[in-house]
Amino acid sequence: MSNKLYSKIAGTGSYLPEKILTNKDLETMVDTTDEWIFTRTGIRERHLAAEGEFTSDLALEAAKNAIFSAGITASDIDLIIVATTTPDKVFPSVATILQRKLGIAGCPAFDIQAVCSGFVYALATADNFIKTGAAKCALVLGAETFSRIVDYTNRSNCILWGDGAGAVILQASESQGVISTHLHADGNYENMLHVPRSETGRDTVVMEGNAVFKMAVNTLDQIVDEALAANGMQKSDIDWLVPHQANIRILQATAKKLDMSMDRVVVTVDKHGNTSAASIPLALDVAVRDGRIKRGDVILMEAFGGGFTWGSALIKY
Ligand code: UT7
Repeated sequence: MSNKLYSKIAGTGSYLPEKILTNKDLETMVDTTDEWIFTRTGIRERHLAAEGEFTSDLALEAAKNAIFSAGITASDIDLIIVATTTPDKVFPSVATILQRKLGIAGCPAFDIQAVCSGFVYALATADNFIKTGAAKCALVLGAETFSRIVDYTNRSNCILWGDGAGAVILQASESQGVISTHLHADGNYENMLHVPRSETGRDTVVMEGNAVFKMAVNTLDQIVDEALAANGMQKSDIDWLVPHQANIRILQATAKKLDMSMDRVVVTVDKHGNTSAASIPLALDVAVRDGRIKRGDVILMEAFGGGFTWGSALIKY
């Protein structure tokens, strides 16, 4: 009889485009101030993709870094899942474009669209492929060029978003890695945070920011309880919170719920802004590389976004 299979994070990687848009820059574009943005969101700056730089380009750099850190070669990968809301083209998927750029072919490759919860959705999907034996070595990414769908004349949300990509290599293992994942959606909230089709052809984010904020805080409360209860764990069992980076005030509320001090929360929103599906794997890679997150640590990832979609992943790193 074979042993129970788990999926384990074997390596992480990320990539941020070179160009930085600071709050000061935004002061010259819309009626806002560095002080307002920082106080309300915790954001100081965000990275923006260059002209001609696409989601698959950011994904490729993040993937290369994750492949290197896992000590594998691209040909070991037998599944590619990219969480994105801002694909290079309507089709084919970023995952298949990335597959070509990595110089591999044959393995399944597809995108997942769950906006800011996308990475948790992608990770849960890859985990299930691995647990059932359908894949052994998955490349899982969150990658976005959100700036392409932002209206830079709309001060109420253009200050939030940034571009970037984060990746993990998820490998089959006999020791515990992903402990559990929990996914949810409620399509009744479609119009609170969406990108409607516009007549001009340039479709941009429309958000009822304050209402989304309140929903996010309340829902994240339940997410934390659900993940702990499913595993008979206590708040004190969590070493690190690696949350979707939407707004520092949402992160603070979640940390409070977990009785966790902010130095156990990986915060990148100040430097990255909200990079949608990319924010969790970006934050994970930052904290792994700077030595905060160590092998054996228990991590709670959680996200809330358009749809609404929300979910969590509890992981032993
Ligand atoms: O990642 C997926 C999920 N997304 C989120 O979780 C985002 C959730 N929402 C938020 O992070 C916040 O709602 C925002 C940062 C978008 C907005 O912050 P807020 O504290 O909810 O502000 P508000 O929309 O209630 O606006 C408060 C005031 C308004 O002025 P009045 O009506 O009080 O005079 C706005 O017009 O702030 C004004 N305002 C601004 N002022 C300066 C809105 N945007 C700006 C701005 N600069 N950029």
